[in-house]
Amino acid sequence: MKLYIDTANVADIREMAWLIDGVTTNPSLVSREKRPFAEIIAEICGIVDGPVSAEVTAIDAPEMVAQARELSKIDKNVVIKIPMTIAGMQAVKTLSGEGIRTNVTLAFSANQALLAAKSGASFVSPFVGRIDDVGGDGMGVVAEILDIYQTYGFSTEVIVASVRHPRHVIEAALLGADIATVPNDVLKKLFCHPLTDIGVERFLKDWEGVPK
Ligand code: G3P
Repeated sequence: MKLYIDTANVADIREMAWLIDGVTTNPSLVSREKRPFAEIIAEICGIVDGPVSAEVTAIDAPEMVAQARELSKIDKNVVIKIPMTIAGMQAVKTLSGEGIRTNVTLAFSANQALLAAKSGASFVSPFVGRIDDVGGDGMGVVAEILDIYQTYGFSTEVIVASVRHPRHVIEAALLGADIATVPNDVLKKLFCHPLTDIGVERFLKDWEGVPK
């Protein structure tokens, strides 16, 4: 399973660049950085040699397509994030015909993911954390999407998004998701286990008793 970082913060991206396979951003993450959007995306593309999702903010399809064409000029690795709406899927279809890769975002059901794939999306992003937040089963939705994509041979890759804790990453990997996009704080937690800390501490203490 590929790991992306879910942030627009270039310091976090530099810190994890050795590990990650790509980057996802969204308007909320970009707004925290207080810098021009295109400048941030260009800098990220200079750090990570993998897909970098940049989201459109238009509502109607022609304007989404226009924004997508401009964003895709920034770098060959830019993937256009488009919300799961009828207009969004019309834009995805047009962009797919132009060879511009898309990541369909704000997906909360298997039907939405089916429509994203049929529209020609390169990636789909089910938001597992937000589904769980409202009492749903985020990973159940991911399982349904993977099952449907396998049955029909869709090449759309599934990005498990809205990841909130390490268990989400384990479950994404167990289900065979293509990618999990993970905030930096959760990425760091993946390395950790209390028994590792206790073990390191004990080894170092015992090492003090070895004659030097
Ligand atoms: O980037 C999209 C998604 O990962 C957002 O996550 O935590 O805002 O639901 P969250």
